Amino acid sequence: SWSMAGFRAAKIAEIRAQVGSERVLCGLSGGVDSAVAAVLIHEAIGDQLTCVFVDHGLLRQGEAEQVVGLFREHYHIPLVHVDASETFMAGLAGVTDPEAKRKFIGGAFIDVFEAEAKKIGGVRFLAQGTLYPDVIESVSFTGGPSVTIKSHHNVGGLPARMNMALVEPLRELFKDEVRRLGVELGLPPAFVGRHPFPGPGLAIRIPGEVTREACDTLRKADAIYLDEIRKAGLYDAIWQAFAVLLPVRTVGVMGDGRTYEKVCGLRAVTSVDGMTADVFPFESAFLSRVATRIVNEVQGINRVVYDYTSKPPGTIEWE
Ligand code: XMP
Repeated sequence: SWSMAGFRAAKIAEIRAQVGSERVLCGLSGGVDSAVAAVLIHEAIGDQLTCVFVDHGLLRQGEAEQVVGLFREHYHIPLVHVDASETFMAGLAGVTDPEAKRKFIGGAFIDVFEAEAKKIGGVRFLAQGTLYPDVIESVSFTGGPSVTIKSHHNVGGLPARMNMALVEPLRELFKDEVRRLGVELGLPPAFVGRHPFPGPGLAIRIPGEVTREACDTLRKADAIYLDEIRKAGLYDAIWQAFAVLLPVRTVGVMGDGRTYEKVCGLRAVTSVDGMTADVFPFESAFLSRVATRIVNEVQGINRVVYDYTSKPPGTIEWE
């Protein structure tokens, strides 16, 4: 019968067989999937693995510190922390189309990995935390014609010039299974229980042009929203919750002055695998509290709206 311990042992054997004595580079995104993949691969091949954490400037508040701390201090897994935010921000300037953003970010990640692989030398494999739903959603929408809904940046192979093969040990798993595997591997439950975070990060939560300023504004609103969710004891009941920053300004009034600032959208859904999702039914007092805090504490936002769309027809992310 199938067990997580059995899966772990089988995958470790499979990774060793695939990789032999070659070096592997694993991209850490800050999320749960890539962290679980890295720990599993480290168990299989030890110091043949180097992890690269790419800070694209599109992370949530405190995220870089958490991941780097966990890997360096707790696991002693070699980790290269690359601050590539200049490159990503420069490349995103003027880009407003959602697929163009995703394509650019996916390509820029590959460029960083390639540069790091060159520095290390002789790296034959790139490891990623790709899951089953990532594979499906990049190929076609369930039951429908073959239409790409969103090109998940971590799916679709590597450029031929790289002469590297992919190691994707989680490719058959759903999110809940990855979390169980993470616990099986000894990752802290609070870490594996974190909400999913997409590779393109905050870029796909800022419709329109992505700027450093917009990212900073969104990070603050998002942190307040998640803080209130944790305080209310709702974090684990929700599949994913996040704020989005709309490129729309509306009129408001604060004190005795007129304001003309941006709109913040709040999203929270329940789901089993991210393929379909239902809106999380917050009490209105909770949403009022969050809206008040965001408008009072975050400069640049004067209105907050709640997204009441299930998936389908909406997707979870806004882009
Ligand atoms: P959507 O927006 O397609 O999202 O309903 C379903 C789940 O996938 C996550 N997501 C991504 N994860 N790379 C990722 O690693 C991506 O490009 C990507 N796009 C969406 C999303 O956060 C949700 O959990």
